[in-house]
Amino acid sequence: MTASIIDGKVIAERVREQVRQAVARMQEDYGYTPGLATVLVGENPASTTYVRSKRKTCEELGIRSVGSELPADATQQQVEHLVAALNADPAVNGILVQLPLPKHLDEEAVLNSISLEKDVDGFHPVNIGRLAMKGRDPLFIPCTPYGCIVLLEESGIPIRGAEAVIVGRSNIVGLPVAMLLQKRDATVTICHSRTRDLAEHVRRADIVIAAIGQTEMITGDMIKPGAAVIDVGINQKPDPTAKRGYRLVGDVDFESVKEVAGAITPVPGGVGPMTIAMLMKNTLRAAEIALAKRDR
Ligand code: GUN
Repeated sequence: MTASIIDGKVIAERVREQVRQAVARMQEDYGYTPGLATVLVGENPASTTYVRSKRKTCEELGIRSVGSELPADATQQQVEHLVAALNADPAVNGILVQLPLPKHLDEEAVLNSISLEKDVDGFHPVNIGRLAMKGRDPLFIPCTPYGCIVLLEESGIPIRGAEAVIVGRSNIVGLPVAMLLQKRDATVTICHSRTRDLAEHVRRADIVIAAIGQTEMITGDMIKPGAAVIDVGINQKPDPTAKRGYRLVGDVDFESVKEVAGAITPVPGGVGPMTIAMLMKNTLRAAEIALAKRDR
């Protein structure tokens, strides 16, 4: 059996098109334009690329993009001052502080300082707390985990009652995606670098979410036939035939896993395009919340 390929580019474009239309309607009906502020501290090359893509996508969808850059040696006070100014700016509906921050900064305090109604990343402790609790819903769902869920849903993969195994326990992906799957009634196992027999856990899974940042670590022999495999990893693999000397691969060994799985996301072109699409959706939601408050 060869797995069906879950095309993140197509599904992300569908999400972006919905946002584009809703933004145009909001502009027409209320003369209101959603705005997203992106904050980049320092010059981490991956972060710089991600932030540039986020700003470009805003423009494509009619969302106002407000970009701020601070130097790598910015103080905690400078970052928190900037966030406070963006919290107070009525033209800004969403605030995204790109992570990771330089080591000397207190990430938790920065995320805490973002106004809850503008937390389009869903990383505010109150949002994460609501995500963790039964019967409560966060105002915003973190973008990459949200993208994983939409990929599963749009591909018709049942979540209720499924065995879901998450490989990785990061704050940005592993933990929130586990909580989202649990909210949707999956039975969830979180594996990590200290898990004793990773293969044994993964072999039981109907849904595998690989988010551990290890090149092609999940192999075909670890996969239950027919399982859905979502690969969140983006790793550089040396490849002398590639122009840059490397190519991008996931945490999943695509070639061996696609022979066993029922459905699989490629890298690139799987989860990657979904993250920004879901950020745009969250920004639209933030604008809807602000507009409802304005017109109250
Ligand atoms: N760094 C890696 N992923 C993300 C994300 O989704 N949001 C932010 N702010 N930083 C990130």
